[in-house]
Order: sequence, then C-alpha cells, then structure tokens
Amino acid sequence: MNVADLEEMSRPLIQKGFHLTNNADDAEVILINTCTVRQHAEDKAISFIGNLKAWKKENPQRILIVAGCAAERTKDSLQRRFPFIDLVAGAKSIENFTQLINEALKEKFSWINDNQGAWDSPDFNLPPATDNPTPGLSHPGLGYVTTMRGCNYSCAYCIVPSVRGRELYRSAIAIINDSKNHVKQGAKEIMLLGQTVNSYKNPVASCELRVASQNKNVTIQSVIPAPGLRQGQVAAEIQPHRNLDPRLRVDDEGRGQKPIEDFSDLLQAVANVPGVRRLRFMSPHPHYFSGKLIETMASAPVVCEHLHLPLQSGSDRILKSMRRNYTTKEYRSIIKNLRSAMPGISLTTDIVAGFPGETEDDFKASLDIVEELEFNFAYCFKFSLREGTEAAGMEEQISEEIIKKRHARLLEIVEKTGKQKARAMLGQKMEVLWETPMEGKSRNFYNVSLSRDQRAEPGSVSWVSIDAVKNRKLLGRLMS
Ligand code: 5AD
Ligand code: SF4
Repeated sequence: MNVADLEEMSRPLIQKGFHLTNNADDAEVILINTCTVRQHAEDKAISFIGNLKAWKKENPQRILIVAGCAAERTKDSLQRRFPFIDLVAGAKSIENFTQLINEALKEKFSWINDNQGAWDSPDFNLPPATDNPTPGLSHPGLGYVTTMRGCNYSCAYCIVPSVRGRELYRSAIAIINDSKNHVKQGAKEIMLLGQTVNSYKNPVASCELRVASQNKNVTIQSVIPAPGLRQGQVAAEIQPHRNLDPRLRVDDEGRGQKPIEDFSDLLQAVANVPGVRRLRFMSPHPHYFSGKLIETMASAPVVCEHLHLPLQSGSDRILKSMRRNYTTKEYRSIIKNLRSAMPGISLTTDIVAGFPGETEDDFKASLDIVEELEFNFAYCFKFSLREGTEAAGMEEQISEEIIKKRHARLLEIVEKTGKQKARAMLGQKMEVLWETPMEGKSRNFYNVSLSRDQRAEPGSVSWVSIDAVKNRKLLGRLMS
C-alpha cells in the first residue's frame, strides 16, 4: 500500500517533468513516505530524515517533502525538530497532494510558476483515473490500484484509523480505468489495494443519479452522494466517461453487464479487463469475507491462487479484546471454504505477539493455529504500543522481554511450517512474473529465482519448473 501511495504522490512530480533517481546527490527533490503502524517504522523514518540535514545544507534550493502516516501523527513535532523540511503532508492530505506540492515547489522552481496550471488536472477528493500511471516504482509487470482509503474499524492496537480517517471509496469506473491504463503500460498483474479492501462499496452505484441528455452528452444534474463523498467528486469522475450508462453497468467491453456494488462485483469487473492476466487484492478483513467473494475468486481464472488474510491472534479472547469482530471458528470456516473452492491456494497472514493481556495459553493458541491452518507464511509482529490507541491504555501490558521471546517462538513455528509448505512446491511447474532478470513471483506468491545461466525480461511472464527449494525460496528453470 505504501508503494502505491508513493506512486500516487510521485505522479504530480513526474507530470511536472521530474525524473526518478536512485542517487540522493542527483536529486533536487526528495519525497519520503512514512509509516507509523509500529514504532520501529516511525523511528526509521525519523532517523532517515535526520540524515538528510547535510543533503539539504549542501544546496538549500533542494526540496524535502515528508508525507504519509508518521507525518500525519507527528507533523507538529516534525517541523520543529527538522526545520529544514519544506513540506509535511500527512496521510490525510494525499488527496490535496498536487496542490500542496505546487505550493512547495513554486518558490524554488520558477519554471513551475511560469507554467502554473498547465499540467494540473482538477483535484478530486480521491485521485482520478489517469492515462499515465506512475511508472517504475514497483516493476513494469505490476499495477497497483487503490480502491479505497481509510478504515472504519478500530482494532485496539492500530493507529491507522486515526492517521488515515474513515473509509472513502473510489468509483468502480476509476478503478477499472486505472487497471486498463496499467495494462496499456505493460502490466500483467493488478493488485487492488485497500485497508480492508473487501469492505469496498461502489459509491457511485449507491448514488442516485439523475441525468439529462444534451447534444448526446450526458450531464450530471444532481448527485446524492454516498456518505463520505463530495458531490463534485462523483460528477467529476463520471463525466469523462460519457458514453457509459449512467446507472453504471460499467463494463464497456460488453461483459458483466450488471451494476458493480460490492467488492466481489469489482473483482469480477477488473478480472474482465482485457489483458489482466493476474489479479490480487490486499488486505481483506475476515469479517467481510463473503461466500460470494470466494465464488468469484474461484470462478475468475485470473485471480491468483494466493490470499493474504490477517488473523492477528489464535485466541478468541484476544481477538475480542483487539476488537477484530470475528472468531477463530469463523476464520477457520473461511479457510475451509476457500480451500475447497480453490484447492492448493496458498495462504499468508499477520500475527501479533504480546498484545496486552495475552497469556501463555492465548499465545500458545496462536502457535497452534499457524500449524493447524498450515499457512504458507505469516508476518509476525511484536506488539508495538501506539499512543492514542485503545491498547495503549490497557492495564496488562506485556513486558518487552516476553514479547521478544514470544515473537521468536512464533517465527520459529512460522519458518518450520513455511519450509514444509515450500518443499511441496518441488517439481511443480509455475507461471512466474519477472520483477528483475532473475527474480519473480509465482501466482501463489512465492519468490522464484532463476538458475544462474538463465535470464528473463522484467515485466514478462514465463513458465518454470521448480528444481530446488531453499528455505522458502524456489529455484526455477525456464521451460522451453
Ligand atoms: N503492533 C504490532 N503490530 C501491528 N500491526 C498493526 N498495528 C500494530 C501494532 N500496534 C500489524 C497487524 C497488521 C499489520 C499491517 O501490522 O498485524 O495486520
Ligand atoms: Fe488497523 Fe484494524 Fe483497520 Fe486493519 S482493520 S487498518 S488493523 S484498524
């Protein structure tokens, strides 16, 4: 998600003629996207910013922009601590980013001033579909598409809702157009993104639209926006697509002629976009994981055989205290249904160790469920206290030492299970999307490396046979 945000924030800069560079010494502008989900991530960002003091001093004309969630949380102190920052743009400002950037740049880059307005597209509440997705931050074969922002949950440990705000959905049209444009630029895979991506609701489908026809053009006369949407935004996103049925039977390829309302509909519609060869989404929330979604995933051949479904804990008591709004029984049932609909699907998850009040038994339940559900991998996190969250005020905080030990035990089980699962891939034939000439991803989300004597074109897809497995990494040989 952070890579996608960074792509989006880079877009106005690239549109203004800036180019990407890997070398800070060459850079006239540095844009840092920060994360605050765990303290460690925030600390890393702060120390990185501190190190840029010399870069800025060397040439005060250079511009330093700090954006994202940590910037949102700490904006006042950031500017005080690092007065050399030119612009702090918190996560909630991403929609106004173009405007903020214009302001920050125009003082120092007079050519921007001279051409003010020349490149600007109208600012919407959410980014509009673009003909030019920002290239190159991930790899040429992959297109990230943001479906929604914010989160309506309030998991007790999580800072995200306070730095990103409540859910705001992009229109299905904008999402489909972004997907098409990514394909046009060479993407084989689309990754739909959202904090709880499967709670998506198409804001336009749920709007009542009254339309009048004037010289064959459709004009939106009145829009009753869904909660969280501005009137102009909806109209603005629809207007470029005047040839479409205003009731938003979106698929202009003649397929899926039914309104897109929920996430399953959206997934199906993006799966129907010609040229989309692989489709993934991140991160779904178990509470919204419907039977309809499982059916859609299983029936759309382009949907990859992998799902990342955050679990967080194997203990129902802790899940309740985390306010996750599902039980382990419900989670197990999703996995069972998924596996019966998509045999062999690989599964990854997130688990937090050391949430306040977690007893040895609670923690043991997390260890057990990782083995029982045979996750292909689990991202394990030490509980990190975030000021202002409900968990920060809980009495039974677990000591750092115990958290560390539990985290290490969790990693051990995850590694063991993960290796066993990876070993089962030996001898299989897999389709790989290449990220570099020698590294790529299989559809079931394994990293695959090519043997030394072989190369592939980044962004292309080819078949390999898995000749060896090293820990969780697969070694493949191109099949002719
Ligand atoms: N401490 C530890 N892990 C956290 N996560 C979110 N907030 C915290 C926190 N305060 C983890 C969750 C989430 C992932 C993105 O980060 O597991 O799914
Ligand atoms: Fe955070 Fe929970 Fe929202 Fe995920 S669902 S972003 S963990 S509050």
